[in-house]
Amino acid sequence: MTVTALPEVAPGADDLSVWPASADRLPHGGLAVGGVSLAEIADRFETPVYVLDEGEVRARCRAYRAAFPDADVLYAAKAFLSRAMVRWVEEEGLGLDVCSAGELELAVTAGFPADRVVLHGNAKSPRDIEAALRLGVGRIVIDSSSETARIAAAVGTGGFQRVMVRVSPGVSAGGHEKIRTGTDDQKFGLSLADGSAQHAIARILGQPQLELTGLHCHIGSQITEVRPYVTAVRRMVGLMARIRDSHGVVLPELDMGGGHAIAYRPGEAALDPAVLARGLRAELAASCAAARLPVPRLAIEPGRAVAGPAGVAVYRVLAVKHTGERVFVAVDGGMSDNPRPALYGVRYAPRLIGRRSAAGARTATVVGRHCEAGDVLAADVELPGDVHPGDLLAVPVAGAYHLSMASGYNMVGRPPVVAVHEGTARLLVRRETLADFRGRDIGG
Ligand code: LLP
Repeated sequence: MTVTALPEVAPGADDLSVWPASADRLPHGGLAVGGVSLAEIADRFETPVYVLDEGEVRARCRAYRAAFPDADVLYAAKAFLSRAMVRWVEEEGLGLDVCSAGELELAVTAGFPADRVVLHGNAKSPRDIEAALRLGVGRIVIDSSSETARIAAAVGTGGFQRVMVRVSPGVSAGGHEKIRTGTDDQKFGLSLADGSAQHAIARILGQPQLELTGLHCHIGSQITEVRPYVTAVRRMVGLMARIRDSHGVVLPELDMGGGHAIAYRPGEAALDPAVLARGLRAELAASCAAARLPVPRLAIEPGRAVAGPAGVAVYRVLAVKHTGERVFVAVDGGMSDNPRPALYGVRYAPRLIGRRSAAGARTATVVGRHCEAGDVLAADVELPGDVHPGDLLAVPVAGAYHLSMASGYNMVGRPPVVAVHEGTARLLVRRETLADFRGRDIGG
């Protein structure tokens, strides 16, 4: 009989390539981010906890500014927003993309200049529009034919508002069907192919209190290739040429949205902002030259690529269960703080932190504490064979669409956000407690 020895360390188990650049191995199996030990954060702030590396966020903002020096880089707030995040993004010279009165008010009340904010939304509520006008957002992106009249009426005859139009250019791209937004069979934008974009543009141009500054598209998320963006640019410039030909209007701006992929596990593809910038710039120059249009000012809206890799979720193991073929490692969080595996089948690479294990690697499934079998954080991952209750597991690339999509499921409460920077940890957002749940429930 042949016995195959388990590998001492799982392949890639010590790979920190998807971690913040500041991630640093400490003696005895510890790991620090932003100069602070994650185990210490777990002790001080309890678990589950989201850790956000301020330096990584700032470095990512700077990388975008460097790659797109002549463009507007608008951080997509839906990925993650807090008052500190607003400040960092503002200080790094980015603008902001928001999609609700809530995101907008939080940003502006935290000091973000409203004229550097763009408001999105496929179905803006009266409150969204009221807040946008009251606070003076730079652009409102019109996303349906009825919206033009609503916004024009809210602005009033003596008023003035800059707007853009969201176009669906018929490009299918993105990491999952639920986050592909460039085609005609989904709810966002006005179709280029069936003429609804052109129709909406004609109506906007007929409203004296609205100034159409340009076109917008966001073709999807977690896009690893430059090619779909290039195709979209070509089609958008084609539409700009048609607008010039039929209305005599040359639009000065083109917003190509976000969606730039990041790696969630070592070896996965990411979209390099510098490579994207080169591709966009070249196509924009070529398409505009062919159409004899001046090159519009470009805007882009990265969300995940700014915040995602800067975040780490730290959990404590509550139970380990062996069932037939599988080992389940259950932690004190789950689908209420990270619904992404359940929603999009995203795979993560959790890591044991806080102690060194001499045990061989074993395939385990990291599950949450919520009351459904689909509450899986990471299926079939390699973890040391001796992982036991009380251990800490850290999940990198948890900075985008984790807290912002977190829920109150099972009244577990949303985790706090702790910023780490240059050896110091500070609380940005406190944990949601039973008192919060009770406080909202007014009895009735
Ligand atoms: N701009 C617009 C108009 C958007 O709708 C979005 C994302 C972005 C920019 C930023 O996309 P990013 O660069 O972050 O991919 N919950 C999903 C992602 C939904 C994205 C929605 N819109 C997830 O967890 O993957």
